[in-house]
Amino acid sequence: MTPLLVAVALGYLLGSIPFGVIVTYIGDGRDIRTIGSGNIGTTNVLRTGRKSLAALTLLGDMLKATVAVLIANHFWGPTAGLAAGAAAFIGHVFPVWLKFRGGKGVATYLGALIGVVWPAALVFAAAWILIAKTTRYSSLSALIASLAAPVAVAIFDAVNPTALVFAGLSALIWAFHRDNIARLLAGEEGRIGQRAAAAE
Ligand code: G3P
Repeated sequence: MTPLLVAVALGYLLGSIPFGVIVTYIGDGRDIRTIGSGNIGTTNVLRTGRKSLAALTLLGDMLKATVAVLIANHFWGPTAGLAAGAAAFIGHVFPVWLKFRGGKGVATYLGALIGVVWPAALVFAAAWILIAKTTRYSSLSALIASLAAPVAVAIFDAVNPTALVFAGLSALIWAFHRDNIARLLAGEEGRIGQRAAAAE
């Protein structure tokens, strides 16, 4: 296998670890896919009412991509690092362990950004926090932050394959949020921290 393929395989395998499922099962005894939106990400884990589990999910889903980028970067260079980060995102949204039905990729996207172009990760995080503080919609925060991130990559790093890769991943984040977008437009989207008993 070429180093690039090894980097992609490593990124995919790390990215496909479903921290939300694991953490919620161990810490709360429940399957996160049967709660709230049914999504395996941090926002939905927060709906269990267990902030510590949500924090662990955020850390795990984020750092698995950062670790993939840093390892690939170290051994095979920046192109492999970018490929590993993108593959980690793909692993999170299409995990082999969950029959390819994963999350929406927001935390893993941020983790990849941290590893590849960390100043752009700060822009992503700042945009997410700003929108979340003002609206308390996690989905809207992710949508705006994922628009800002590729622009930030282009500014900090130049309009190059890295910016285009993150623009592509942002398009996937938008596609995975189509139900959230419909609920936002209908005024039916839940706010951050609202608890929910069963999957919608
Ligand atoms: O990161 C996912 C978030 O933007 C929306 O999650 O559970 O409300 O669909 P959820």
